[in-house]
Amino acid sequence: MHSSLLLVYLCLGFFTNVFTSPITYEDVRGTPYTVSYDHRAITINGVRTMLISGAIHYPRSTPGMWPYIMKMAKNQGLNTVQTYVFWNIHEQKPGVLDFTGRANLSQFLQDAADAGLFVNLRIGPYVCAEWNYGGLPAWLNQIPNMSFRSSNEAWKTAMKTFTMQIVEYVNPYLAKNGGPIILAQIENEYNGGDQAYVDWCGSLVTNELSTTDIPWIMCNGHAANSTIETCNSCNCLDDGWIDRHRRDSPDKPMLFTENEGWFQPWGEAVAIRTTADVAYSVAEWFAGGGAYHAYYMWHGGNNYGRTAGSGITTMYADDVLLHADGTPNEPKYTQLSRLQHLIANYAQVLLSQDSTRTPLPYWDGQKWSTGTQQFVYSYPPALHFISNQFDNTLGVLFRNKNISMTGHSVRIFDDNLNLLWDSANVSGIQSDNTEFFPIVIGPLQWQTWSEPVVSNLSVFTSINPTEQLTITNDETIYLWYRHNVTLTQAQAHTIVQVETRKANALLFFLDGEYLGEFDNHDHSQGALTATISLDLSTFKPNQRYLFEILSISLGLDNGIQANSFEHKGIVGNVWIDGQLVGNDETNLWEHQKGLVGEYFQIYTEQGSSKVSWNTQWTKGINKPVTWFQARFNLDHIVREDINANPILLDAQGLNRGHAFINGNDLGLYWLIEGICRDTPPCCCQQAQINCLEPTQRYYHIPSDWLMPENNLITIFDDLGASSPGSVGFVQRVILT
Ligand SMILES: *[C@@H]1O[C@H](CO)[C@@H](O)[C@H](O)[C@H]1NC(C)=O
Ligand SMILES: *[C@@H]1O[C@H](CO)[C@@H](O)[C@H](O)[C@H]1NC(C)=O
Ligand SMILES: *[C@@H]1O[C@H](CO)[C@@H](O)[C@H](O)[C@H]1NC(C)=O
Ligand SMILES: *[C@@H]1O[C@H](CO)[C@@H](O)[C@H](O)[C@H]1NC(C)=O
Ligand SMILES: *[C@@H]1O[C@H](CO)[C@@H](O)[C@H](O)[C@H]1NC(C)=O
Ligand SMILES: *[C@@H]1O[C@H](CO)[C@@H](O)[C@H](O)[C@H]1NC(C)=O
Ligand SMILES: *[C@@H]1O[C@H](CO)[C@@H](O)[C@H](O)[C@H]1NC(C)=O
Repeated sequence: MHSSLLLVYLCLGFFTNVFTSPITYEDVRGTPYTVSYDHRAITINGVRTMLISGAIHYPRSTPGMWPYIMKMAKNQGLNTVQTYVFWNIHEQKPGVLDFTGRANLSQFLQDAADAGLFVNLRIGPYVCAEWNYGGLPAWLNQIPNMSFRSSNEAWKTAMKTFTMQIVEYVNPYLAKNGGPIILAQIENEYNGGDQAYVDWCGSLVTNELSTTDIPWIMCNGHAANSTIETCNSCNCLDDGWIDRHRRDSPDKPMLFTENEGWFQPWGEAVAIRTTADVAYSVAEWFAGGGAYHAYYMWHGGNNYGRTAGSGITTMYADDVLLHADGTPNEPKYTQLSRLQHLIANYAQVLLSQDSTRTPLPYWDGQKWSTGTQQFVYSYPPALHFISNQFDNTLGVLFRNKNISMTGHSVRIFDDNLNLLWDSANVSGIQSDNTEFFPIVIGPLQWQTWSEPVVSNLSVFTSINPTEQLTITNDETIYLWYRHNVTLTQAQAHTIVQVETRKANALLFFLDGEYLGEFDNHDHSQGALTATISLDLSTFKPNQRYLFEILSISLGLDNGIQANSFEHKGIVGNVWIDGQLVGNDETNLWEHQKGLVGEYFQIYTEQGSSKVSWNTQWTKGINKPVTWFQARFNLDHIVREDINANPILLDAQGLNRGHAFINGNDLGLYWLIEGICRDTPPCCCQQAQINCLEPTQRYYHIPSDWLMPENNLITIFDDLGASSPGSVGFVQRVILT
């Protein structure tokens, strides 16, 4: 075993290190090549290849941004990108597939290929991803006997059909056809108890999907025998995954699919993961024998339109290597870039041998003690990774040298003990080197139009309120519920109760007068009863009024198990002062799908003229369910390249709603204040910043949605904008 390894090292390591560079897509593009694996790595044409990867989700940016992002990824030191495939943007209506615009997966694959990047295609098609319904189309709810992600015929048929369609669609981009796709994924983080379902996923891979001729992975959960189980975590060495994998799957390589940058919920202050912590975890991974590493995310991008999962902000994973708006996040970007280039340069030496871990003595104050958290991972004759898993700085003895190691850090040395890289030291990198320049300063020449609280749009009626998705199919986040009521009393504190769901807002109106709102913006799903006290003292008892509730979905939860169906809107009863509203065949509930402004698409050039705008826009201030529209020019941009120097909407002065630029939906904006907690909200994060400021004030506008002049901005604010005059645009510029 040992001598044969040495032979491998001599043949591959020494030889290739001296005479060839590490393999990249550029070396194989255009001609069929093979992809397989051994216990150490994925192999390309039989050669072990170090895959240095990061997640970039195509619909979280735009076709006009993709070439820029790919170029940045390549320069920063990636040789592979990974993306999920998002079922619910490709099949919004059953049987109708869409690959246009942000859903143009083949163009995304081509852009990766053009930049010289391999692709790991994570099809799922359940993807979680803090994405609306974890990628599942809402219409799956209507299929009889559906049970998601289980050995259920309805699910298996739907999953297999979509997966096969994607595999056929990407066929030209597979390795066997000279394309960039070298690795695919079935399912995602499956931790349910249905072994028959896991085996069925495995049989898909060995049968129908075997024509792809590439390895398939299953990540962070149960994996079928025919797939490679991979790690999603903050640190796959410290958390024991590497040891488990060696024991359970000694013949499969170690792949880290998601080194988590985490995500941002509304109402929380922005959370960050330190550069030192990410750097430590990536270096430990390669030291410990990892052969594929992916940042999740490398570029988070934005949840444009209606794509965010429950309670998730429009910017996605902003604190990763490339900010949501496309600017480098320093010092993370450069610190990890240096590591990646180092790993790439030494890839053949690393991959020519197995990782060995040797404990090192540490200075305990009096003497050198045997380390249980201090190790060296040596890859002779080239590299030595010294790691200190302990919390604090201490001296570590390596080759008779006392090496000072910061807590949770890795230092990489060459064989002469020259320091090549230190995970804890970013002192030479300029951090936070961007500035926001105002380029369009308000007030804009707004005009305003109030969404009618009663309209002639068609309605659906039922004796009791109907669940929202049944009516909307999630094609809009808005549903009006209407019912005529006779008040038994009219008082200042009238209690209204509604059986609803988490991540849902409800606005209450009586005869068109706005009375108040309830919202829950948890990043989760589940039923709850909304209870709100409304002031009805200006109304009269024993009179008939039109009672209305505007229900707003704040995203479908992405954590989907077998029967954890997500619902929205009113999912049970409504009571006013304890009196049930409904259950009366002579007085029905009416439901209007979406807004009149959406119906006419007044946020587009063609639709804008279909309503009569009021140029006295201050009349729209602080009025719920109100639209605003204006035009703006990019007269004062600081730098021409607006991919590298992005333009953002400064939403200060607005409340909550959607903003549209030239007909494109930027996603939900919300100026909700971000709370800081005693401990960071989740997992890999160490700190929160900007306490008590809006969770998200700036909203990225993709370059291909903008024109030099005469851009149309449209706002729909459901709660009412307090100061639309403050709205403006900024350009984010890297200081040089
Ligand atoms: C995807 O992009 C390519 C390249 O721009 C284009 O030729 C193709 O028509 C696009 N596909 C769709 C469905 O729009
Ligand atoms: C419904 O699904 C279950 C498995 O989840 C299966 O046992 C049952 O036969 C199915 N029923 C129909 C009518 O398809
Ligand atoms: C998977 O491998 C395990 C362990 O070798 C074996 O017990 C099991 O039957 C296999 N499952 C399938 C579906 O082949
Ligand atoms: C080793 O270095 C540490 C700090 O880096 C220091 O505290 C300690 O005294 C040194 N030990 C010896 C024996 O030099
Ligand atoms: C950190 O790196 C800088 C060079 O970038 C170097 O001057 C400095 O000595 C290093 N600090 C430590 C503690 O090693
Ligand atoms: C509603 O009425 C307006 C004018 O009264 C008309 O222009 C519009 O087409 C009607 N909409 C529908 C959906 O019937
Ligand atoms: C409420 O009553 C009015 C007057 O009878 C009627 O026109 C309207 O359609 C009713 N609305 C609902 C939601 O039942």
